[in-house]
Amino acid sequence: MRQVRTTSAALLAAGALLLGAGAQTASAASDTQAPGMPLRAAAERAHLKFGTAVNTTALAEDADYRRITGREFSSVTAENVMKWEVVEPQRGVYDWTAADQLIDFARAHGQSVRGHTLLWHNQLPAWLTQGVADGTIDSAELREILHDHIKTVVTHFKGKLYQWDVVNEVFNDDGTYRDSLWLQKLGPGYIADAFRWAREADPKVKLFFNDYNVEGVNAKSTAYYELAKQLKAQGVRVDGFGIQGHLSTQYGFPGDVGANLKRFADLGLQTAFTEVDVRIPLPADATKLATQADYYRGLLSACLGSTSCTSFTVWGFADQYSWVPDVFDGEGAACLYDESYRRKPAYEALRQELRQGRH
Ligand code: G3I
Repeated sequence: MRQVRTTSAALLAAGALLLGAGAQTASAASDTQAPGMPLRAAAERAHLKFGTAVNTTALAEDADYRRITGREFSSVTAENVMKWEVVEPQRGVYDWTAADQLIDFARAHGQSVRGHTLLWHNQLPAWLTQGVADGTIDSAELREILHDHIKTVVTHFKGKLYQWDVVNEVFNDDGTYRDSLWLQKLGPGYIADAFRWAREADPKVKLFFNDYNVEGVNAKSTAYYELAKQLKAQGVRVDGFGIQGHLSTQYGFPGDVGANLKRFADLGLQTAFTEVDVRIPLPADATKLATQADYYRGLLSACLGSTSCTSFTVWGFADQYSWVPDVFDGEGAACLYDESYRRKPAYEALRQELRQGRH
C-alpha cells in the first residue's frame, strides 16, 4: 500500500500549478453540459462506494439536486432524518417517513445506504434531554431507553443498510471521553453496549465508530484505535472506523492519513470517509478552489491506497445546502458544486483520482 500521494508540500505546489486549470474548469463545468462519466461509475471501477449525505427536503423539492444525487453517487447517507430527534420525536413513537423515502430513492437508483447515527450527543429529542435534566429519567431508565432505541431503529432498517454509524463523536480532541449525558449517566460502558445491542438486532450490517479530526494519527484517532483493541479483547465486534473528513484549507492538510488507515486495517477494521467537505475562507477564488481540490483529492487518494477503505462520502454536494456557513463564520463554498450546480475543480480532481483506481 502506498502512503497518501499528496503531502502538504505537494498540495501547495499542485495548487499553484492548478491555478489556471482550476479557473477554466470552474467556468466550463456547468452540470448540464456534457457531464461525462459520473463519479459513481469511476468509483465502481475502483471498487469503492462513492456517496453523499442527502438533504431530504432538497431531494423532494429541487429537481437538479435530485438528478445529481441519482446520477453521481452510489451510496447515500441521511444528513438528518435517521437521527434520534427525527425518528423518535416522542418517547416510543417512531416516524420513519423521511428515512424510508430516502431508502426508496436509493433503491430506485441502485444506491447503497449508510446509517447515521444511532447514538450522538446532538439532535436528541427534547423528551429525552429534558427528562434527564429534570431527573424524571434516571440512569437505569436511560440505559433501557438507549437499548430500546437501538434495537428498534436497527431492526426497522435491517437488511436495507450496509453500514451504521453506531456511536458518533464520543471522544474529545485530546483523546478523553466526551462529557455527554451518555458518559455522565451511563459511564464509558455505553459504547460497548451500543455495539452489542446493534449487533443483536442486525448481525450483518457493518458497525462503525464515526468522528471528525481523526484523519491523521493524533490523540483522538489513537483513542479510537485503543478502544477498538479493548472492545475486541472483550469480544465486542466493531467493524469499522468512520473518518468524517470535515477539513478547512486554513488549517493545512492532515498528516499521516495513510498510516492512520493502515493501523485500523491491521486491527481488522474497515475504514470509510463518511462526511467529507473542504471549507475555504470566503470569497472563493481560483487559487482557493485549486487548494480545495487538492484536499479532496488527498483524502480520496488515502482511501484508494488502503483496501480497508470501503466508501468515500461527501457531506452534501451543493453549497446552497451545506451546513458549513451556519457554523463557521466567513467560511463556506465547501462542496463539489457551487450554488448554481457548476462543478468545481474538486469534482474533476476526484474523478481523475478515481480513474487512476486503487494503488
Ligand atoms: O428541522 C428543524 C426545523 O424544524 C426548524 O425549523 C429549523 C430552524 O433552525 O431547524 C431544523 O433543524 C436543523 C437541522 O439541521 C435539520 O435541517 C437544525 O437547526 C440544524 O442545526 C441541523 O444541522 C445539522 C447538524 O448536523 C446538527 O448538528 C446539519 O444539517 C447536519 O449537516 C449536521 O451533520 C453533522 C453530522 O450529523 C455529524 N458530524 C458533523 C456534521 C456537521 O455538523
